[in-house]
Amino acid sequence: MEKKRSWAEPYKIKMVEPVFMTTEEYRRKAIEESGYNTFLLRSEDVYIDLLTDSGTSAMSDRQWAGLMMGDEAYAGSRNFYHLEETVRECYSYKYVVPTHQGRGAEHILSRILIKQGDFIPGNMYFTTTKLHQELAGGKFVDIVVDEAHDPDNLYKFKGDTDLRKLEKLIGEVGADKIPYISIATTVNMAGGQPISLGNLKALRKLTTKHGIPIVHDMTRVAENAFMIQQNEEGYHDRSVAEIVYEICSLTDGSTMSSKKDAMVNIGGFLAVNDPVIFDKARNMVVIYEGLHTYGGLAGRDMEALAIGIRESLQDDHIRARVGQVMYLGEKMMNMGIPIVKPVGTHGVFLNARKFLPHITQDKFPAQTLAAEIYIDSGVRSMERGVVSAGRNKETGDHNYPNLELVRLTIPRRVYTQAHMDVIAESVQRVYERRDSIRGLKMVYEPEYLRFFQARFEKL
Ligand SMILES: Cc1ncc(COP(=O)(O)O)c(C=O)c1O
Repeated sequence: MEKKRSWAEPYKIKMVEPVFMTTEEYRRKAIEESGYNTFLLRSEDVYIDLLTDSGTSAMSDRQWAGLMMGDEAYAGSRNFYHLEETVRECYSYKYVVPTHQGRGAEHILSRILIKQGDFIPGNMYFTTTKLHQELAGGKFVDIVVDEAHDPDNLYKFKGDTDLRKLEKLIGEVGADKIPYISIATTVNMAGGQPISLGNLKALRKLTTKHGIPIVHDMTRVAENAFMIQQNEEGYHDRSVAEIVYEICSLTDGSTMSSKKDAMVNIGGFLAVNDPVIFDKARNMVVIYEGLHTYGGLAGRDMEALAIGIRESLQDDHIRARVGQVMYLGEKMMNMGIPIVKPVGTHGVFLNARKFLPHITQDKFPAQTLAAEIYIDSGVRSMERGVVSAGRNKETGDHNYPNLELVRLTIPRRVYTQAHMDVIAESVQRVYERRDSIRGLKMVYEPEYLRFFQARFEKL
C-alpha cells in the first residue's frame, strides 16, 4: 500500500506578530461592553481573529518589496499601469478603474447601470452589493439554486444560478428592466459555495439571447476556480489561473474587493470590457474615490495588489489556502458540530439553528453563538443570519433567512494548523454547554448594514 504523503504550506514564516490570551472574566466584560457584537470588540482583546478574511491576510516578501516601489504621483503612477496590465493578463478585462475597496466599485457600477424600478438578479445577495443596488433604485432578486439555502445539501456547486428562476423573471418584467445579472464566484452568504463553469456557460448563452450583461463579483474567484479544478468534469488538468481566466471571459465586467483573494490590506477595482461604461466609470470615480489612475489607493497599494493577484493564482498557494479551511471544517464535522456542508472555501460556517435549536430566530441565535465562542476562547467570528439580512423594506419586519450562520473566516497565510485545532476545540466546548445559552435582544439598530454596529443585551 502506498504511504500517505502530506503536503504543507508553500511558504515559511519570516516575521511574526504576537497575540495574547485574556481571561474568561475579561472577555465576558469586553463582549458585554461591545453590545454582544464582535465588530465592536477591540482587536487587541482578540486571540484568534476570524471576523473576516478581508484585508487580514499576510502579504508576501515580494508584496512588501512592492510597497517600496510605490510611485506616488497624483496622475499616471507606473503602479496603475502595472495593475492594469495584470488585470488584463490574468482576468481578461480590458479596462480597469481602481477603487479603495470592493464597495467603491459596487457604488460606481450601480450608479451607472441601474435605473429606478430595475431588477438585478443575483446568486444570493451580498450585503454591500445589494445595498448599493437598492440605493441606486434597483430591486435585488435571488436566483441562486434552491440547494444553496439548505445547509445540509451536499451539492458541490451551491453558488449556481437557477436558469428557470431567471427566465421567469425575464418573462415577468422584461429584459429591458434587467440592467445586468450580478454573479458572485464563491457565494459568501451561502457559506463560501462555488459556481460551476457549466452553469456559467449556460447563463452566458441565456443572457446573450436576451442582451443582458453579466457582472461578476470576483472577490474570491481563485478559490472558486480551485473548486472547479477539483470537482468539475473536464477541469482536473487545468490550472487555477486558466480557470480564472475562463470564468472572467464569460462575463462582461467585474467588481473586485482585492482584500480577499489578492491578499492586500486595502484595494479593489471595477473592470469592464465596454468602452462606454469605462468612460462613465472613470469620470464618476473622480467624484467619490480619486483620480482614475489611483481611485483612492496609494501607488504602493496598487503595486502590492498587482503582485498579489499573480500570487493568488498559483496552484500551490490556493491548495494550501482552501486546504486549511477544509482541515478545520472536517475536524468540526468529526466532532459532530453542525456546519454548512460542503465546507466553504474561505471559512467554516456554523449552522446556528441546529447548534442552538432552542433559540428562535428573533432572538438572534448566530449573534449569540459568536459572542459565546468569543467568551470561551477569544476567537472572534461573525454573524451571517437575521442581523445581516436586515429588514424587509415593505413590511419593516426582519428578513428571516433560512441560513442562520456564524462565519469562522480564515485569513490567508496567517494562522497555523495548531490555531485550527484551538478553534475547533473551543467551538466543541461551547457546543457541549449549548443548552445553557440564552438569546439576545437588539437595543440599537443603525439604518444601513446594521450587523456592523448594532448593539444587543442578554435576555
Ligand atoms: C462577496 C463580496 N463582495 C463584496 C464585498 C465588499 O468588498 P469590500 O469589503 O472590499 O468593500 C465583500 C467583502 O466583504 C464580499 O465578500
